[in-house]
This record gives sequence, C-alpha cells and structure tokens, in this order.
Amino acid sequence: MTVSFKEHGLTVPLTQGQIYFNYCWLRDNCPSSFDPQTRERIFDICSLAENPVALSAELSIDELVVHWANENHTSRFSLTWLEKWAKPSLRDDVAALPRSLWKSDHSNKLAKFNADTLSTNRTKLTQYAHALIVDGIALISGLEDSNQALTRLANLLGSVRPSVPGDYFDVRVHLDPVNLSYTASELELHTDTPAEELPPGIQFLHCRSNTVKGGVTVFLDGAAVAEDFRQSNPEDFEILSTTKIPFYYEHDNFDWRSRQKVIELDDRGNVSGLTISQHMADVNDLPQKELDSFYPALLRFGRLLRSEKYQIQIRLEEGQCIVFDNHRIVHGREAYAENSGNRYLRGCYIDRGELRSSYRTLVKKQK
Ligand code: OGA
Ligand code: ZN
Repeated sequence: MTVSFKEHGLTVPLTQGQIYFNYCWLRDNCPSSFDPQTRERIFDICSLAENPVALSAELSIDELVVHWANENHTSRFSLTWLEKWAKPSLRDDVAALPRSLWKSDHSNKLAKFNADTLSTNRTKLTQYAHALIVDGIALISGLEDSNQALTRLANLLGSVRPSVPGDYFDVRVHLDPVNLSYTASELELHTDTPAEELPPGIQFLHCRSNTVKGGVTVFLDGAAVAEDFRQSNPEDFEILSTTKIPFYYEHDNFDWRSRQKVIELDDRGNVSGLTISQHMADVNDLPQKELDSFYPALLRFGRLLRSEKYQIQIRLEEGQCIVFDNHRIVHGREAYAENSGNRYLRGCYIDRGELRSSYRTLVKKQK
C-alpha cells in the first residue's frame, strides 16, 4: 500500500485503512509550523501564493514525507500523529469530560474538599477541578474569615475575573441595593449576570457569616433539566436553544445589555448551561408573532425547572465556600429575616476556560 494522490489531497495507508488528508491541512500543520519554544504556530498558510499541492510523497516505517510543489519545502509527519487524526473527531481533550447530570439526590454525593488540603495536595486539587467539570459544583470548607481566603481558593484554579461589581461582590443587605441579592428578599432561580456578553463562568460564594432565619441557598443542574426537556419537548427545546433574547442590568453608573439563548449547547451538541434570570430579563423584543411559540416554550421549561426533584438545598455555614459553574448550575435563595442575625457571603468568579486549562495542566503534571 502506498500514498495515492487526489485533486485536493492524498491518502495514506494507516491502521484504519486508506485515510484521506487534505493538502492545505497537511501543509498548515507541518511540524515546522510550530515554534518549539512558544509552541505557537509560526506559519501563515495565507502567505502562500498558490494553494499547496504535493509534488511527491513517500512513506517510511514511521513517517510520511511530502515534497511540496511551488515551494521549496518538505514536511515530515509521524504516522503515529497522523493516526490520531484518522477519524474525524474533535481534538483530544482530557478536560472534555462528559457531564454527570444530577438531581435532588446529589445532596448526598456533593464533592467536598478542605481549603488547606487543596492548596497543598495536587491530587485533591485535580479531583476538585474534575468535580467542577463533571458535576459543576463542589463545597469547600475550612476557609478563614478573611478576604484573602477567597482569593487564595479562587487562585488555585485561575485569576479572579471581574464582573459588573468589580473583582468581588458582597452579598449582604446594602443601603442602596443595585441588585436583589443585596437585599434580604428571595432570589428566584437564576444564573448570575446574563447581561454581560460573556456571563461569568465559575462562581465562588464564601460564607463569612450566616446566623439569620431563612436564607437557604438552592442549586440545581440546569443541564439535567434541559436534557430531560429535550426528550419531553423537542420543539420547545429547539426554540430555547436557538433563539437569543435580551437581558439588561442598568443603574445610575452602568448599563449592561446582551442577548443570550436560554439553553446553551456545547460543540458536541450537549447542553452546557442555561441563561435564566427573571431580574435581568429585558422586555422581550422578538416579533410578537414569534412570541406565540417562544413564551409557551419558556413557560413549559420554567415550570420543569421549578420541580423539586432537581433541587438541592444548602444552608451555607461560616467558613464554607460553594463553587459552581454559573452557566450550568441554576441557583436561588430563600428570603431571610434581616434582623434575625448576620448573613454575609463574599463572591467572585473565574472563567470556565481557566478551570479547564488548570485541569489539563494538573493532569499533564501527574503523568
Ligand atoms: C447571588 C446569589 C445566593 C445567596 O448573590 O447572586 O445567588 O445564598 N446569592 O445569597
Ligand atoms: Zn446568584
């Protein structure tokens, strides 16, 4: 078996049979295209005057060697590397872990870690990042009562990423609240700040004190609800996963607006999150006729979301920090009696990409 030449590429005999590779792809990904120090691509395929075509190519035991026409260049590809690309699939990614969708019985299975252990034990840190990717939520205990404790915990996975209120936000009763979370009222099921173009990825809520009556926090796996909804209401699912609706967050000194889909899908077509926020949903500006089908779909989904079979309740205690995927994990809070004690949570965010980058790096270092 040898290399055979086609109009736009060539085929190579590999373990899975005669596999086709496009010429542009081969030339673009010639090993010489990558800088050995920075590991970045240093070749711009658009700099070629003509589209790459092989003049000749030969196979050795472990290499495919391509001599290019119109260019004084030879590419050498390891066959092991070509084997990896033989099947059309997304690039290998250790962080592309399947989500483990959960319901109310997740209360007993919630991943729990100690803050000090996470900062000294890399295996535990990897397990924590794994839980955040797979379950979307983890509970950390043992944080001291300081601003630094939250920063230290967040920095184990990435840099704090600013949001509307800045690097951090203080969830307690404010004199001039700009957000319902800064009151003692109930907070309906939501994901945080959908009015940002890219709403924050991973949320940290460090409980500094919680002695009030009420104020239990509720969490649910929005991906689990939406995947169930896909089965039961496929047409509604299609509407909510393709239609962008407006969100806003407006006050004297800021005016954020965005358009988001209620159901967010990943590159594989699986549900990766939701955008839900009654308090930040703007006046819907879809054509009124379109609303005839959009609203019923939203209402059916919203009712399912409220079903207790999906919810876990956590009464956060001083020294605990709940960490969760702000797109996937829908959360809310029951009202509390403001004068019955003290309630103070300090929050911040990192991005989801940082979580995955940290997880990949942790796994690499364990090998
Ligand atoms: C928030 C929030 C939960 C709580 O501030 O966005 O969801 O328990 N808070 O106060
Ligand atoms: Zn919130």
